[in-house]
Amino acid sequence: MPNIDRKWWKEAVVYQIYPRSFKDSDGDGVGDLRGIIEKLDYIKSLGVDTVWLTPVYPSPNDDNGYDVSDYCGIHPDFGSMADFDELLEGMHARGIRLVMDIVVNHSSDEHPWFVQSRSSRDNPYRDYYHWWPAEKGKPNYRYSFFDEDNNAWQYDATTDAYYLHYFSVKQPDLNWDNPEVRREVYKLMNFWAAKGVDGFRLDAFQLVAKDPEFPPLPESCAEDIKHVISYQAMDPKVHDYLQEMHREVFSKYDLMTVAEGAGNTFADAHALVDAERNELNMAYHFDGVHVGSSLAGYTLAEFRDVYTRWEEAFAEKGWLAIYLANHDVPRMVSKYGNDSPALRAASASLLNTFVLSMRGTPYVYYGDELGMTNTEFEGIADFQDIAARNSHKKALKDGVDMDTFMAQLKHLSRDNSRTPMQWDASPNAGFSSGTPWLRVNPNHSEINVAVQENHATSPLNYFRRLVQLRKDHPVLVYGSYQLWLPEHEQVYAYSRRLDDAAVLVLLNFSDAEASVDLPNELVPQGLLISNLAAALPVAGKLVLQPYQAIIFAL
Ligand code: GLC
Repeated sequence: MPNIDRKWWKEAVVYQIYPRSFKDSDGDGVGDLRGIIEKLDYIKSLGVDTVWLTPVYPSPNDDNGYDVSDYCGIHPDFGSMADFDELLEGMHARGIRLVMDIVVNHSSDEHPWFVQSRSSRDNPYRDYYHWWPAEKGKPNYRYSFFDEDNNAWQYDATTDAYYLHYFSVKQPDLNWDNPEVRREVYKLMNFWAAKGVDGFRLDAFQLVAKDPEFPPLPESCAEDIKHVISYQAMDPKVHDYLQEMHREVFSKYDLMTVAEGAGNTFADAHALVDAERNELNMAYHFDGVHVGSSLAGYTLAEFRDVYTRWEEAFAEKGWLAIYLANHDVPRMVSKYGNDSPALRAASASLLNTFVLSMRGTPYVYYGDELGMTNTEFEGIADFQDIAARNSHKKALKDGVDMDTFMAQLKHLSRDNSRTPMQWDASPNAGFSSGTPWLRVNPNHSEINVAVQENHATSPLNYFRRLVQLRKDHPVLVYGSYQLWLPEHEQVYAYSRRLDDAAVLVLLNFSDAEASVDLPNELVPQGLLISNLAAALPVAGKLVLQPYQAIIFAL
């Protein structure tokens, strides 16, 4: 192969598992590690070679495990450390690597560090967190994502002081200025790395570095909450911390390291991931998932523009993750495709074609190989997520139009993507013999693994073929990206090129037929894959069916 910097983590296809919802082995309604062990052959059958497990540590579950109370343990709901060891062994035996979620912007307020820290002003753990003594007056405003008032400072009477929490009140932010905190973090990462895990996903990491003076927000922040969020992210010290983490942990192992969030600019993103900086392997940006995150939906032009800009900014160096869904956003087929019974299979397969044919490491969220959709909610009582519940309280306080608010919540809530995996058509979708912690999607009787196993053209079997195609064609991993037909209203077209290998990807993002007139320099030589019946173009012309995806060899 030519002069490309080959790495396993660039060639990997990552499958994200939300363990609460994947497979419950003991009937308590919560998915667990033994459930994942039962399904390892299924995971292997997908062709994916890396699993990202969202947090499995002890936690009071204010934010479903993203509030950790013991970083080196396993939550009893999920099993034991022996189960974890068996899971890791079972994965490695099948050639599957495991990436752990590291949540160290904040801990749980029930973590012993915080319990100590809040107990008195002179406790040795006091400086593990950010405290603001009340006699200094109210601290300057900081935004909190999950707080009922979006206020990141919580008054605590025990020591007459405020503590900082960028997420819920039960998720106090750790103080990364304190070298002891950093040492503790490297210790816990080394604990998992020594066990043999293969990588780390750093949760909310762009928020860790803070100015401990907490000065007033700059004026630009008054205009828009987005400015506040950008201001709170990417304090330059984040790079010192990552370089230190690299020295203390990453340099000792062969790990995949990925940050949630890629900063505010392309320069920020490069500074996080460019190889010579010795920070991270890759990051995932939010620009892609921000497209379509309102009831208005999105246009192909917006979608294509975001991915093309990022591709171009990373054409020469740096590496990114590519994803359309995870546990923080709705189901991809309901957001970017069409989840009606007639079109959901085709559109789910189209979206998977996109994710697996772009440059960057693809991340696929459990159930998206089936085209699992958003679910049905009646009222607020159906929502489990703290983000949904607290934003609802705030909306009531603010007196916003609740019909609009609920319509948005139903479409965009994170609970949509957290419903149990749909294994079969039985009452609990084969997920659990007990009562699932979150209601299974009623459409599991039609969308499930058992049904799709039996159909050669199901989204599941198409997904398997796609993963294999990516494995067989390094051009899909390393090839350069070039946009074609930039004005087409329905079709996203791009080529990938690596030496003398080249492919053309055509994606009809619409529910109508689309005519394509290829430029003369694009002459397809053969069909590599399509989710619907396809033929080579005649005189450069072809018609794509609604949501048809085609990859041609050039
Ligand atoms: C990240 C996680 C999200 C969590 C938040 C706080 O964004 O992906 O699920 O709620 O961090 O930890």
